[in-house]
Amino acid sequence: MFLKHRALQAEYFDLPDRPVAEQVDGYRMLAQTNRIFLLRRTFTTLLPQWLGPERCRELSILDLGAGDGSLGNELTAWAKTRGWNWRITNLDLNTQAMRLNPAARFVASSALALPFRDASFDVVIASQMAHHFMHEDEVAQHFREAWRVTKDLLFLNDLHRNYFLYAVVWLLLRLSRYPEHFVSDGLLSVRRSWRIPEWQALAARAGIPQARIWLYFCSRVLLQARKQTKSI
Ligand SMILES: C[S@@+](CC[C@H](N)C(=O)[O-])C[C@H]1O[C@@H](n2cnc3c(N)ncnc32)[C@H](O)[C@@H]1O
Repeated sequence: MFLKHRALQAEYFDLPDRPVAEQVDGYRMLAQTNRIFLLRRTFTTLLPQWLGPERCRELSILDLGAGDGSLGNELTAWAKTRGWNWRITNLDLNTQAMRLNPAARFVASSALALPFRDASFDVVIASQMAHHFMHEDEVAQHFREAWRVTKDLLFLNDLHRNYFLYAVVWLLLRLSRYPEHFVSDGLLSVRRSWRIPEWQALAARAGIPQARIWLYFCSRVLLQARKQTKSI
């Protein structure tokens, strides 16, 4: 497929030694874009639906590749409005990202070798991160590790590789007048992303039984798997 771009180049976002101010700006623009694409709503709609309100009262959640932890902040604040206590642990390789959000709980580590025991968190999530890996072996290892440390629910999401999303991202980022590197990263993100059968194969390689993988609003691939109850 024309859009497929795996193994060609990494995103500018991932280059080491970028100026700190530029990294800060990158995370700020990403958080803005996530708000436009209603990223938080994916979690606030689906997590309570799967876990039920009782279970949602107290949750430990690990967010892999959390960036500056904006999603975790939004989820914690949203849960609080319902009287729920969602304790988020943000994990990322980028230590600059952590400095942007000093009040949040951060762990500096690779998602490929998580510094946690098996079944350490009620819920493990990752958002828009799998496409950052250069090799599919790494993606399978990321899935395997995420599955190992969840006690109950694994919920991963990333972009779906399709022309419609490519066009929407192009239009939105151009209209928003973001810097050229951010626009080309956005487009590259779509090209480096996924189709459903690819994630099905990766979930099977990672040994995640009964993983449910589907297309969400023409723009995202979602993976959901449960340890404590049957998937969905
Ligand atoms: C596009 S950002 C996604 C941030 C956030 N999850 C979101 O949805 O906006 C990808 C993040 O993954 C992080 N990352 C890339 N490879 C990683 C790895 N091996 N382990 C942990 N984090 C990683 C990057 O530092 C970056 O912050």
